[in-house]
Amino acid sequence: VQREERKLAGGLVLREATSDDIEGILAVQVAAFGPTDEPGIRTYLAGAHGDPSEWSVVVDGDRVVASCALFPKRLVLGGVELAAGEVEFVATDEAYRRQGLVRAQFDWHHERSAELGHVAQFVGGIPYFYRKLGYGYGVSYADLFVFDRATLDPPTDVTFRPAAPGDVAALAALEGFRAACGLRFVRTERFWTQWIEMATAAGVLDGRQVGVDRFWVAERAGEVVGWSAHTLEPDTRRFLLHPAVTTDASVADAVIAHALDEAGDDYLMIGHDTPATEYGRRVRALGRPFPYGLGIYVRIPDPVGFLRAIQPALTQRLSTSPFAGATGRVEISLYNEGVAIEYEAGAVTNIDAIAGLEDPFDQDECGVAPDWFPALALGRFGARELDRRIDDVSLGKHADLLEVLFPRIESDIVGDF
Ligand SMILES: CC(C)(COP(=O)(O)OP(=O)(O)OC[C@H]1O[C@@H](n2cnc3c(N)ncnc32)[C@H](O)[C@@H]1OP(=O)(O)O)[C@@H](O)C(=O)NCCC(=O)NCCS
Repeated sequence: VQREERKLAGGLVLREATSDDIEGILAVQVAAFGPTDEPGIRTYLAGAHGDPSEWSVVVDGDRVVASCALFPKRLVLGGVELAAGEVEFVATDEAYRRQGLVRAQFDWHHERSAELGHVAQFVGGIPYFYRKLGYGYGVSYADLFVFDRATLDPPTDVTFRPAAPGDVAALAALEGFRAACGLRFVRTERFWTQWIEMATAAGVLDGRQVGVDRFWVAERAGEVVGWSAHTLEPDTRRFLLHPAVTTDASVADAVIAHALDEAGDDYLMIGHDTPATEYGRRVRALGRPFPYGLGIYVRIPDPVGFLRAIQPALTQRLSTSPFAGATGRVEISLYNEGVAIEYEAGAVTNIDAIAGLEDPFDQDECGVAPDWFPALALGRFGARELDRRIDDVSLGKHADLLEVLFPRIESDIVGDF
C-alpha cells in the first residue's frame, strides 16, 4: 500500500516516490553529490532490485526538490539476527535547504521503519547533522591504513577481473572467511547484485572498470579466492579500498598491491581493516594507521525493545563471565526514561522500562545519554571506555557488570554502506 502523502509548508508535498520520479530524484542527487554518483544511485532506483517505493520525495508542483531512501537490512549482533533500516542518499535542492525537508522525510522513514519491525536505523554521513535527527555515533568505521609497496609480498598467481552477476554464488561462499562473531550486516543476493551493478553501470573499458565504484574478484587457478571494492574520490584525490575478504593472507597482499596499482601515483590509497579476519590481520601488519574518528550514526528509538531483542546475547555474555552465578538488577538511566535489567544465575530474566534518574552520578548509579545508547548497545568502545570518553555516560558502581553486558564488539559494517 502506498503511504498517504503529507502537505508541508509553502505548498510542498512529501510522498512515496514512483518510477515517474526517477529522473527528478537523480537531478537532485547529482546536484548534491556530483555526476560521478549518478550510475550508482540509478541502480538503487531502477536496477534489478531497484524500488522507488523505498524512496521519499518532496515535490514543489511537479518538481522533486528533496529525496532520500530507507533500505531494509538484516543485522547480526552477538549471534542474534535483527531487522534494521539504512538511510541513504539524503539530498535537498540548494534553494530549498533549511526548511525542514530532511527532518520531515526522516519522520516519514522512521515510521516506515517501525512498521517494518526495524529495531535500529543506520546512516553514514557528514559530521554532526544527523545528531539533530535522533541519531548518535553508534559504530566505528573500520580502522584505515596506508601502505608502502615495498613491504608487500603479492603472489604472482592471483589475478583480478571485474565482478559479474554470475559471481554472486562464489562471493556468497566467501562469507565463511568473515568473522562469525561481532556486529555485521547479512549480505544477501540483493547486496551483491547491487554492488556489481553499481560498479559496472559506469562501464568497463578493455576489461577494466572505469567508474568511481569498482568491484573485483580475485582468482587463483580459476577459483574465486577473494573480492575487493574500490571507490575513487576525485575531489580529495583519495582512493578507498573497502573491507575486503580473502581466503588467506597471501591473497590479502595481492588485493592491496592491486589497489595501489589502480590508485596510481596521483591518488592516495587508503585501505580498511576487515576486523577479525586473515585479511584484516595482514592489513594491520603491513599498513600505517590513518586515523579517522567519525562514527556511523545509529538511532535506537526503543531501548527497552532493543535490549529485549538481544536478550539471548546478553545472557550468553553473562553466563560466560564472573557474574555467571550472580542474581541482581542493574538500572540504566537514560535521564528522561530508564531501563532495568534483571538477571538470575547467569541469565538475563527481565528487561523493563523504568523512570530515569536525573543525576545518577550522585548515587553511584549508571546514566547513559540517549544519543550514546546505540554506542553502548552496539559495543562501539565497550561500556568502560564509553564512560571514559563521554561526559554524560557514567557506569557508577555497576561498571564491572556493565562491561560484561556491553563489551567492545568488532564490526565491519562500513563495508556495507
Ligand atoms: C545536508 C542537507 C541534506 C540538509 O537538508 P535540509 O533539507 O536543509 O535539512 P533540514 O532543513 O531538514 O534540516 C534539519 C535540521 O538540521 C539543520 N541543518 C541543516 N543542514 C545542516 C548542516 N549542514 N549542519 C548542521 N545542521 C544542519 C537545520 O537547520 C534543521 O535544524 P532544526 O530542525 O533544529 O531547525 C542538505 O544541505 C544537502 O542536500 N546537502 C548536500 C548533500 C549532503 O551533504 N547530504 C548529506 C550527506 S550524508
